[in-house]
Amino acid sequence: MKRLLITGASGFLGRRAAAFYSETCEICAPSRTELDITDLENVYAVFRRFKPHCVIHCAAVSDLGMCEKDP
Ligand SMILES: NC(=O)c1ccc[n+]([C@@H]2O[C@H](COP(=O)([O-])OP(=O)(O)OC[C@H]3O[C@@H](n4cnc5c(N)ncnc54)[C@H](OP(=O)(O)O)[C@@H]3O)[C@@H](O)[C@H]2O)c1
Repeated sequence: MKRLLITGASGFLGRRAAAFYSETCEICAPSRTELDITDLENVYAVFRRFKPHCVIHCAAVSDLGMCEKDP
């Protein structure tokens, strides 16, 4: 079975992607505290541990107002 890593898995898109692939893939869906994408060492550690075949990258700051205020 393919190993699929989903970032931002607690978000709108990530949660749905995890549900969609739950029957066909082994899923790693870490929370933001388990995988902070702004922390490179943290990202390497998760990749080394889980060794995903594929990644669906859904982690993002999706609040446009916040992004415009603090680019
Ligand atoms: N929603 C849509 O219809 C849609 C359509 C097309 C494209 N997209 C794109 O898909 C992406 C996700 O959208 P969304 O609607 O799912 O947003 P969302 O509900 O706000 O989810 C974003 C996820 O990213 C996580 N996150 C934020 N900063 C992070 C970090 N530094 N490390 C790890 N995780 C982090 C959030 O965790 P916390 O909740 O803990 O902060 C949350 O789980 C965005 O780039 C968006 O533009 C969305």
